Amino acid sequence: MKNIAVLVSGGGTNLQALIDAEKSGIIKGGRITCVIASNPEAYALERAKNNGISTRIIPRKEYADVASYTKAVTDALLEEKADLVVYAGFMTILDEQIVKAFPYKMMNVHPALIPSFCGKGFYGLHVHEAALEKGVKLSGATVHFVTEVCDGGPIIMQKAVPVENGDTPETLQRRIMEQAEWKILPEAVSLFCQDKIKVVDGKAIITE
Ligand code: GAR
Repeated sequence: MKNIAVLVSGGGTNLQALIDAEKSGIIKGGRITCVIASNPEAYALERAKNNGISTRIIPRKEYADVASYTKAVTDALLEEKADLVVYAGFMTILDEQIVKAFPYKMMNVHPALIPSFCGKGFYGLHVHEAALEKGVKLSGATVHFVTEVCDGGPIIMQKAVPVENGDTPETLQRRIMEQAEWKILPEAVSLFCQDKIKVVDGKAIITE
């Protein structure tokens, strides 16, 4: 059984999707053992507590720089003996220390089809604002391994979602969450926990 640690900053609907997937048996070979929040107010913490999952709060504001914050998060994950680290709406940038400690053992869900609308500054509603501004007809979500390059690691899974006339950033965000993020994140986690993902030449390959 792999230990899954989930990093959160906000509402935690992706965490909830993981909790539900674990309960319904969609996630095989792993269990969520710890939730770490960068923000003490994150509602995701309530979701963890309601489901008996241990929580830690490591407030970004209490650390002077990215390096000291990354060290604190990395140390906590090592203490928790995390086998997989999931960034589920984690809005804080960490540096390469954590990538060295968990190489190809961290995955992130991003609310767009990478390489569109990704990288520094593209997070949360900003991603959907940019997609609507461009006028794309399809957007979606991507689950990828976390590397030193922001949103640049090997892509594990993607799912496209149509943009509709009259969409606002909020309606598009909701559709992408419901139709893509909440589905592909648990699937990718389950595949990882069953050792069904390998990285070859910088690309993730799913081996069924
Ligand atoms: C999700 O849409 C997630 O993909 C996005 O923030 C939202 C968090 O929602 N993450 C990023 O933009 C990271 N670059 P949640 O807290 O309800 O899961």
